[in-house]
Amino acid sequence: MRASAPSQGRRSAKRPSPSPQPSPQRGEGASADAPASWLHLLGAHLHNLRDVDVAVPLKRLVAVTGVSGSGKSTLARDVLLTNVAAWVGQRATKAGREAMDAGKAPALVGCTGLRGFESIDRVLEVDQTPIGKTPRSCPATYIGFWDTVRKLFADTLEAKARGYGPGRFSFNTSDGRCPSCEGQGVRTIAMSFLPDVKVPCEVCHGARFNPETLAVTWRGKNIGDVLQMEVDEAVEFFASMPAIAHPLQLLKDVGLGYLTLGQPSPTLSGGEAQRIKLVTELSKVRDDVGRRGQKAPHTLYVLDEPTVGLHMQDVEKLIRVLHRLLDGGQSVVVIEHDLDLIAEADWIIDLGPEGGDGGGQLVAAGTPEDVVRAGTHTGQALAPVLSRVTSARLTVSGAWGADRVQ
Ligand SMILES: Nc1ncnc2c1ncn2[C@@H]1O[C@H](COP(=O)(O)OP(=O)(O)OP(=O)(O)O)[C@@H](O)[C@H]1O
Ligand SMILES: [Mg+2]
Ligand SMILES: [Zn+2]
Repeated sequence: MRASAPSQGRRSAKRPSPSPQPSPQRGEGASADAPASWLHLLGAHLHNLRDVDVAVPLKRLVAVTGVSGSGKSTLARDVLLTNVAAWVGQRATKAGREAMDAGKAPALVGCTGLRGFESIDRVLEVDQTPIGKTPRSCPATYIGFWDTVRKLFADTLEAKARGYGPGRFSFNTSDGRCPSCEGQGVRTIAMSFLPDVKVPCEVCHGARFNPETLAVTWRGKNIGDVLQMEVDEAVEFFASMPAIAHPLQLLKDVGLGYLTLGQPSPTLSGGEAQRIKLVTELSKVRDDVGRRGQKAPHTLYVLDEPTVGLHMQDVEKLIRVLHRLLDGGQSVVVIEHDLDLIAEADWIIDLGPEGGDGGGQLVAAGTPEDVVRAGTHTGQALAPVLSRVTSARLTVSGAWGADRVQ
């Protein structure tokens, strides 16, 4: 059995008042530890859901649980995500806000009411689908720090003397890239009756740029070397450049230190792609605070079974990333079977009791302890995991954290 990563301590989530209250406006309750405001979804009835009312604490880790077919994806994605996205989207424009104030809200899909969404600025589903289809997309370009790397090279004396701007160091434009492979570093050979084969480019040998571009170096490395660098090495190399080092450090923190900056996105595994998406979000949290002195937009993240296909160790890394999003004041809803992740949740929405027609009801809602007490299928499975996590916490901190669930 796995020794669960010691929890960072849960955030408090007091029960919502029975009648849905309008949630605080943006700006209030800004601290991640502030009491939760609640998102209320009323009368959810899509697919097998039977008129379900749920309250979702914001700025908390919320797990939607239940046996297969109980209605988790229907509730969290098809109803919650869809409706919050439509309402938040409409509020994003002045005309939309005015229409809404005049009582013209978007039509609700699969439910009869939605309350308390006002503090949410955006909604995002983070899944394991590939992060880019073109081989020219890579972690560095996807996360967004590649532009800063290109500017760094364009600012060198050598680049200035040659008249190279940042575009010269892009493999998407023809000036600087290797003409033979068009900046891909590999060439695709079509094979009749067989899938295409990729071979290293015989001109640039994978460096992706032409010799003139590669002649420009920053601290002894050219742009092709940088793309071939592993994240672990790059964190050290760019230590003096926080805009580059920070996202690299995040990649390292989520266990992706072994990736090279230029690894083509289509070759990343599902779990790697998912963590890169989360790192992209995490780096935005910091960017927004740092650059404009404002809070990052309050985002509701929805993850449908993010642990599928992940090794136990990777689940712990994923849990760490989720905690960092929460520390940044964000809201996270995960549909989950993994008991270690469920035990970390601040709040559980447990559907069932069974799948299909035998499911679609809210069988328990509350803290993991509440769900264990309710004795549902999830509660019974969770009981031994929860006592293990609790004793791990006691060992680590000597006592329950101050923000222990009340
Ligand atoms: N588009 C649809 N049309 C009709 N029924 C559907 C549709 N999508 C899902 N269902 C049914 O609704 C029920 C709930 O499905 P849902 O996908 O929400 O389950 P789940 O709890 O997410 O299960 P799993 O853990 O297997 O992903 C199931 O009985 C399913 O067959
Ligand atoms: Mg599902
Ligand atoms: Zn080439």
